[in-house]
Amino acid sequence: MIAIGCDHAATCLKEALKTWLQEQKVDVLDFGTFGTAKADYPVSAYKVAKAVAEGQCEKGILLCGTGVGISIAANKVKGIRAVCCSEPYSAQLSKMHNDTNILCMGARVVGSELAKMIVMAWLAVDFEGGRHKKRVDMITKIEAGTFDEIA
Ligand code: RB5
Repeated sequence: MIAIGCDHAATCLKEALKTWLQEQKVDVLDFGTFGTAKADYPVSAYKVAKAVAEGQCEKGILLCGTGVGISIAANKVKGIRAVCCSEPYSAQLSKMHNDTNILCMGARVVGSELAKMIVMAWLAVDFEGGRHKKRVDMITKIEAGTFDEIA
């Protein structure tokens, strides 16, 4: 199950991605917003991030005008590694090396076809673990306030 959410700047892109994912038989849980009335991005960021962090959904997709605000907000939730992408390469590597669990994009930055390519790249791969696990574990320690290594 993929959680999806957006602010008012990205409702149109959210609907396009949701329809496209559902056509591919991917289950999507939509946390809104559902129209074009102003909707502060931290609200949907928090709902989607919580659904992922608590295991209700495996992954999340968050969209706002740039993808920036919504990714910053999502990354404040414990256990979330959200990436803001505007091309497929970073999306793919963010999963393989950084074990990202939320993909963020900007509806004012990418068109719907590019956004689909970015989602495809992100969903097609898995976290590689190995040397990357040690680094992701360090991020988790920073989050927990137990990181005491000095590089
Ligand atoms: C809304 O105008 C805009 O600020 C928001 O969608 C997003 O781009 C913030 O990062």
